[in-house]
Amino acid sequence: MFRTFRGGQSGGWRVTSISPVTGEPLPFVPALSVTDSEAVSLPQVPSRNAWRLVGVASNLRYTERAEKQQLVAVQAGLGRLEATSAALIPIRKSQSWWELTQEERRKIFEDRSHHIASSLRFLPAIARQLYHCRDLGGPFDFLTWFEFAPADASLFEELVAMLRRTEEWTYVEREVDVRMVKE
Ligand code: HEM
Repeated sequence: MFRTFRGGQSGGWRVTSISPVTGEPLPFVPALSVTDSEAVSLPQVPSRNAWRLVGVASNLRYTERAEKQQLVAVQAGLGRLEATSAALIPIRKSQSWWELTQEERRKIFEDRSHHIASSLRFLPAIARQLYHCRDLGGPFDFLTWFEFAPADASLFEELVAMLRRTEEWTYVEREVDVRMVKE
């Protein structure tokens, strides 16, 4: 139920870069491990050369029925053999975002930023999973995870560049972009 991303010295993914997009960076680590657990464990004593982020795959907040059907029809699942490149992009949104109502956020997210409509064309090449962590007390609100074949790396760059230009992203106050390859 809880997915833990641990940046450190070992793990199934070899980290190739960690770029601070907005706000405080995360320290560089050579490897990332991804594990699942039934309960959230207390954070260990923070160490200088490791970090740990926990999130939970939750229910949809903004997606409407027709959009969900479109997504389900084209999206790929995680763990494809050819998808040996991945990105972990932890994101925190600002207080002003969270003070909006659900309806106001949906307007910004989709009616004005077209997060879903403009991202659909990147499926199934880019597989994705959103993890929520705002209520778990960590430093981010979301952990976003993407898997793709190395040949689709430039497609992924196009996707992140597009989203970062939207009105939705004006509410992003911390974003770190971790890239890796499967070991
Ligand atoms: C939320 C689709 C790429 C960051 C969502 C949601 C959908 C979606 C359907 C809404 C979930 C809900 O209803 O609660 C997609 C598709 C993508 C894509 C199809 C293409 C592969 C990305 C990328 C990023 C990103 C590249 C980060 C750079 C987020 C975040 C949320 C989100 C942070 C949560 C927004 C919030 O609840 O305030 N995405 N997305 N997405 N996505 Fe994407």
